[in-house]
Amino acid sequence: MVSLALDRLAARYGRRKILSDISTPEIPGGVLTALVGANAAGKSTLFRRIAGQLRGEGNVRLTGAVTADLRYMPQDTAMTAALSVYESIILALKQGGGGWRLSARELMAVDAVIDRFGLTALAERQLPELSGGQRQLVSAAQTLVSGPRIVLMDEPTSALDLSRQYEVLEALRAYAAETGAVVILALHDLNQVMRSCTTTLAIGDGRVLACGATLEVLTPSLIRALYGIDSRVERCSRGCPVMIVDGPSGAALAS
Ligand SMILES: Nc1ncnc2c1ncn2[C@@H]1O[C@H](COP(=O)(O)OP(=O)(O)OP(=O)(O)O)[C@@H](O)[C@H]1O
Ligand SMILES: [Mg+2]
Repeated sequence: MVSLALDRLAARYGRRKILSDISTPEIPGGVLTALVGANAAGKSTLFRRIAGQLRGEGNVRLTGAVTADLRYMPQDTAMTAALSVYESIILALKQGGGGWRLSARELMAVDAVIDRFGLTALAERQLPELSGGQRQLVSAAQTLVSGPRIVLMDEPTSALDLSRQYEVLEALRAYAAETGAVVILALHDLNQVMRSCTTTLAIGDGRVLACGATLEVLTPSLIRALYGIDSRVERCSRGCPVMIVDGPSGAALAS
């Protein structure tokens, strides 16, 4: 079983401290985990710190995985290289080394991830010719092609239309379930989080505000603390929880 826990993690840019004391219980594999927080709360910074791109105090504790099993998809995915989609996914697979020859198993992994993200019709297209949403799908495929056991994705659905947001979250949920990988997604759409993510980590002011089962974390009081927004979590006619926004905190209509 794969899991990840953060132990007093800190991160800074120069002298400016962004994260001061990020500690979590074990974040389980096999399900999706959401990372939520306001703009500039430090979500991308936390991913960079976990991925080893930033140094700082504290530890990332991995169980059932090593640092080399981690893949990180950044928030901005500029793609200027003169490569086809297919070639770029092979390149991502070969980043860990191992020569250029592709084994039958590796070829299957490339085909499977292209299929998983609905990229078959785009496989021969050049990266600089892709739309923003197409680039984001390719970036997701590059992230998963090597079968990582720890996956960090920074706003992986931000450029996608409604149906592709749904498909990508489904594909990621299926990937986590099939492989047991820890998959953490920075997301802003809290209804998307409630539908897809079993666990949620909420950060603000450089520290953890809550971490645990999504419905226990995303309470109206946490949402007020995170965003200054009054909200309600209610059941829809089909029994699924949905978040309804009433407005800026304190300005909600008295009922
Ligand atoms: N390379 C950098 N150098 C200096 N400061 C940075 C750098 N990157 C981010 N910051 C600052 O660190 C803070 C956290 O930024 P970060 O990108 O982690 O936020 P975020 O939670 O990912 O926000 P968003 O939801 O807008 O993506 C912000 O105040 C930002 O200005
Ligand atoms: Mg960010």
